[in-house]
Amino acid sequence: MKNQIRGMRIIVTDTYKDMSKKAATIVASQVNLKPNSILGLATGGTPVGMYKELVEMYNNDEVDFSEVKTFNLDEYYPIERTNDQSYFYYMNDNLFKHVNVLEENINIPNGKAEDIEKESYEYDKNIYNSGGIDLQVLGIGTNGHIGFNEPDIAFESGTHKVKLDSETIEANARFFESIDDVPTEAISMGMKTIMQSKKIVLLANGEGKAKIIEKMLFGEISPNVPASILQLHPHVIVILDREAAKYIEEKIN
Ligand code: PGA
Repeated sequence: MKNQIRGMRIIVTDTYKDMSKKAATIVASQVNLKPNSILGLATGGTPVGMYKELVEMYNNDEVDFSEVKTFNLDEYYPIERTNDQSYFYYMNDNLFKHVNVLEENINIPNGKAEDIEKESYEYDKNIYNSGGIDLQVLGIGTNGHIGFNEPDIAFESGTHKVKLDSETIEANARFFESIDDVPTEAISMGMKTIMQSKKIVLLANGEGKAKIIEKMLFGEISPNVPASILQLHPHVIVILDREAAKYIEEKIN
């Protein structure tokens, strides 16, 4: 089932695997059409399946990443790259070590940066000088965050340091030994950079995301639900499994 709400095309799939395959196909098509694409990449539980599919496509010679440049959305702060919970480690583990993205073309905010303002400024400048993001992959937090842009009274525009929401810390505790090990801060790409991406693919699966997906698509546009700003983007593809689409299926039919 497919549908369109303003600039957003909604695709509902039966399973997590179908959602992941659909997303991987979109990323691979982008790279096949423009081999030197600038990809914005996301971490978290949601895109793991998409990366698996992309690795399979790469192994089958269906996609070549040799000219691709990547910018990840965020990184915990402070964190060592070698920490198996860092997003640097995650990206290497789930994608980079399996495919032919060149090391010099990989960009992830530095979780050990001494001067965060400088790191943020340079990260944004690097994205800008690369020509901007062609395709940005997003997940969504149960509180509506994209990247680590947490609910707030205003939208932050550029890359910046954030204090993680208690809801985010609780949600991410499943990846750590204890909730006390979850970093309380992070560096995140800002909303302006995300909104300037030429295309966006947002993925969500599971019932736990159903309420926020409804708010993102049909609620008021507010920094209190950061993902709601995507209603203003001209080219967003939202790919959901049936559970995450629970409250919207009737509305888009
Ligand atoms: P998740 O996180 O994929 O682990 O649910 C999504 C997010 O926080 O953006």
